[in-house]
Amino acid sequence: MSETKNMTIGVLTSGGDAPGMNAAIRAVVRQGLAHGCRVLGIRKGYAGLLKNDMRMLAARDVSDIIARGGTILNTARCKEMRTAEGIDKAVEVCRKRGIDALVVIGGDGSLAGARELSRRGIVVVGIPGTIDLDVDFSDYTIGFDTAVNTAVEAIDRIRDTSSSHERCSIVEVMGRHAGHIALWCGIATGAENILIAEKYDGNESAMLDEIRDSHKRGKSHHLIINAEGVGDSIAMAQRIEEETGVETRATVLGHMQRGGSPTARDRVYASTMGCMAVDVLLEGKENRVIAYRGGGFCDIDLDEALGMSTTAPKGVDEYQWTIARSLSTRYNKKDTPPA
Ligand code: F6P
Repeated sequence: MSETKNMTIGVLTSGGDAPGMNAAIRAVVRQGLAHGCRVLGIRKGYAGLLKNDMRMLAARDVSDIIARGGTILNTARCKEMRTAEGIDKAVEVCRKRGIDALVVIGGDGSLAGARELSRRGIVVVGIPGTIDLDVDFSDYTIGFDTAVNTAVEAIDRIRDTSSSHERCSIVEVMGRHAGHIALWCGIATGAENILIAEKYDGNESAMLDEIRDSHKRGKSHHLIINAEGVGDSIAMAQRIEEETGVETRATVLGHMQRGGSPTARDRVYASTMGCMAVDVLLEGKENRVIAYRGGGFCDIDLDEALGMSTTAPKGVDEYQWTIARSLSTRYNKKDTPPA
């Protein structure tokens, strides 16, 4: 068990940034200071840790950051941390700097790095931070809520111009290999088609028929949400236009989804998780992740948490996938109620 008195906690953000990470950093710093800990802010994720790039943070250092997107600590994807030498070096730096415990805010890959450190004796606590919501142990990840709201606002705008011109629009959203952002955006904007890797069978001809049919039935637009990784949206738009004769445009929302001021939910949940990470350490627990499961916050064993992806990959919510289809007029052709 770690010595919790006068503990020195290192905190870093790693991998893709996510709105709300600053709220989590702020919470770690302020909760840590409130309980007599020192908090070292490590810059640029594991890359900064390897370079011993860190400084002690005071309460004022995290003033006015709760509403800011990005991460004040900066972040990076660090290839070196995937090597045994990199991990050894990280352990050495932690020992040299007197870091008793490390709080890692990031996605699956970043938390896997934390697990390697824990296996070499460094006490770690993980906080899930990624817009993709693609960690299997938590129903919430920092940044997803903001990213979805940002994308939905953009899609609503695209939909307006799409309707005016009676066009088909493809909007590509982020999510790497996971379709959570696409599914939420699709439901929230009433999209006709949602293409996600978990479900898409690559049958474009069925979709083309649907677009022709929508057009024939006088629908003013046909909105397709495409999760990145499913297919090139621009090439897809060209094919749709050629095959159906319906004017089609593609918009790739890209990194705008990762920026911007976090929603209240991301601020509050990230703050809760940041404080809990410190509480868990103060209780003397080691190698945990903070999760949101079944409507509440909890801490679970890091190994067990990361093992969940191999035993039961989360995937998208099946019921939400079903309703996304039944809510679309494309699938629900009964425009008029029964007599
Ligand atoms: O993991 C978050 C994410 O935004 C993914 O949705 C996307 O595939 C990836 O990061 C993009 O990474 P980068 O910023 O390195 O281009």
